[in-house]
Amino acid sequence: MKYEKGVKKMSKSKVGKYVINESDVQIIIKDVMKSYYTGDIEVRALNGINLKIKKGAFKMILGPSGCGKSTLLNVLGGLDSPDKGEILINFDGSMRDITKFSKDQLTLYRRQKIGIIFQFYNLIPILTALENVELAARFSNIENPKKKSIELLTEFGLTEKLDHYPNQLSGGEQQRVAIARALVKDPVLILADEPTGNLDTKKSNDIYRLLKNMAVKYGKTVLIVTHDEDMANKYAEKHIFIRDGKIIKSEEVAHKIIYNNNNN
Ligand SMILES: Nc1ncnc2c1ncn2[C@@H]1O[C@H](COP(=O)(O)OP(=O)(O)OP(=O)(O)O)[C@@H](O)[C@H]1O
Ligand SMILES: [Mg+2]
Repeated sequence: MKYEKGVKKMSKSKVGKYVINESDVQIIIKDVMKSYYTGDIEVRALNGINLKIKKGAFKMILGPSGCGKSTLLNVLGGLDSPDKGEILINFDGSMRDITKFSKDQLTLYRRQKIGIIFQFYNLIPILTALENVELAARFSNIENPKKKSIELLTEFGLTEKLDHYPNQLSGGEQQRVAIARALVKDPVLILADEPTGNLDTKKSNDIYRLLKNMAVKYGKTVLIVTHDEDMANKYAEKHIFIRDGKIIKSEEVAHKIIYNNNNN
């Protein structure tokens, strides 16, 4: 088994845990493949993804529609399983391959270790803002779930909205609740799939600023899929460009390909 430079010292113990010497690595993705089938027709959504992400990284994932961005987030978040490859996640110093997890382990991983933010917020409509966040906190077994939920919602400027239901909140407010819900469980990874796809420019800026601030304040690793390259350039320095299920290494080349693609 080969790893990139700097993580070669990783060794595999008998229980399938990897002890890493480079404690600042959060994710290693190795040769990940994922296909979907419509009848006999194969769509290769991920076609050999290799990636190393540092702890505390704040990265944008860009690429044309259908290139595999959401599929990549889904396999990272344990919502879907790759056909091949390894996804090593650093859990407090030990790297574990989540593709080897049992169904129950994956459920716990999703519930307790991953914060996911969606374009359409996905709040539970019959629960208030506070209850939405508190439910996630209770599922992940953290201490003082209600207190922590109130603290985060207050920090996100939603003190007056704790008892509001999602349909009584604006899009930007719903997304702030969704971010609080992702963060409250103290996850190892926050994944956001076009979190501002449904918001105007001002609200998009508010959401990106909030994501960036909380990533820094709480030391979280954050991966965000976006179509908005201007916004991506404003909040992150280096991006991950994907095309046809593969990561394009060079930003310059990626820019050209996206440009050409839009003009075909
Ligand atoms: N559940 C599924 N069943 C069949 N095909 C799928 C499924 N999910 C994704 N695909 C296909 O896999 C490819 C990658 O899809 P994915 O959703 O990851 O793209 P994307 O980069 O997120 O696109 P967009 O920017 O439009 O959201 C596409 O060709 C898509 O049609
Ligand atoms: Mg998508």
